Amino acid sequence: MRVTRRAYRAALLHMLDDPCRTPAAEAFAYHEDGLLVVEDGHVAAFGAYADLAPSLPERTPLEAFPGKLIVPGLVDAHIHYPQTDVIAAWGSQLLDWLHSHTFPAEQAFADRAHADEAAQFFCDELLRHGTTSALVFGTVHKTSVEALFEAALARNMRLIAGKVLMDRHAPEGLTDTVETGRADTESLIRAWRGKGRLGYAVTPRFAVTSSDAQLAMAGEVAAAHPDVLIHTHMSENLDEIDRVGELFPDARDYLDVYARHGLVTPRSVFAHCVHTTDEALRRMQAAGSAAVFCPSSNLLLGSGLFSLKQACDCGVTVGLGTDIGAGASFSLLHMMGEAYKVGQLGGEALDPLHAFYLATLAGARAMKIDGHVGNLAPGKEADFLVIDLAATPLLARRTAAAATIAEQVFVLSLLGDDRAIERTYLAGALAHSRDRL
Ligand code: GUN
Ligand code: ZN
Repeated sequence: MRVTRRAYRAALLHMLDDPCRTPAAEAFAYHEDGLLVVEDGHVAAFGAYADLAPSLPERTPLEAFPGKLIVPGLVDAHIHYPQTDVIAAWGSQLLDWLHSHTFPAEQAFADRAHADEAAQFFCDELLRHGTTSALVFGTVHKTSVEALFEAALARNMRLIAGKVLMDRHAPEGLTDTVETGRADTESLIRAWRGKGRLGYAVTPRFAVTSSDAQLAMAGEVAAAHPDVLIHTHMSENLDEIDRVGELFPDARDYLDVYARHGLVTPRSVFAHCVHTTDEALRRMQAAGSAAVFCPSSNLLLGSGLFSLKQACDCGVTVGLGTDIGAGASFSLLHMMGEAYKVGQLGGEALDPLHAFYLATLAGARAMKIDGHVGNLAPGKEADFLVIDLAATPLLARRTAAAATIAEQVFVLSLLGDDRAIERTYLAGALAHSRDRL
């Protein structure tokens, strides 16, 4: 069989391990003049041009990107596709924001045509920002997830999503029941799991909007399908945490509400975890569950300052999320910069390569897709970006003065966004080009 092979010459950077646990110098690989070889949609080689070029088979098409940086596609470990239109809602905190902005916007997804249009826009926006994989909330409507999966499948994105489960404390039209939630979830899993690069996540919204019976059902469905994730919110905002305490007076803490229903597992992803004790984080670590740091959202909703150091010290895997629409940008480069600022307010200066780890391999680990994506190790799917380090006059000027790759990544996290994403490749195929080719 004929192999389709292409090679790309540029600076190359990817992460090999968690800078929390591995000495910084061993946690990443960087080649100032590198060569990425892609065969049939997978990475065949990643290394120094001088080492790899001599053995490149003759007549392999080679594209050179002088002055550009190739990195793995970015991984957004927590985002809501139906909330694209509620970005930039002024003046409210979580519970008020949900009722006044978010729930009305989600009600519109009862209309399949609206969902289709929003899903197409959302997927294109992810690719424009260099995000190639994401863990995504739909709405309570089954069709919202069908619309998203169709859009993601057509683009061949590695995306995991789920229908929201919500059987109380939400407006009529946005609630399901234990039984309809079960039936819709089961039918979506059967129809979509493993299609293309798609996956399913059982998605109870948060403890406030699901009864004990619904959480128990979510735990049962997840247990019956060991390939699906569990995706929810936890310990985000102080008023929310008080409300969960009132609704579940017997639970030891917020995590316990989920644990009692079999929802704290190696496949569980908890967005936020801003106000979490060391002891709860250690229980998450013991279960193999992941947390997602959503700095833009946490700042805008006034939720609080996530401590990456605390989560690291407790051994919890942490991904990075935009949390659109509470978060105000699709750009994970921007989120890396926001994560740094949150760290500074908590007395923790986030290392730039650690931030880059959060936006790539860590998110893939949280989503359990790191066997496929997250870095450009040989054998992985060739989801990668060509980054223009001179995308704006200011970025070009500041880049020229960057002495190390860590400094370059830091500059990119503060000055970079979708303008810096020159190209996005999915499984070796060009999926977005900033400049018309
Ligand atoms: N908690 C429950 N639902 C939501 C949501 O839609 N966004 C955020 N940020 N937190 C939530
Ligand atoms: Zn969220």
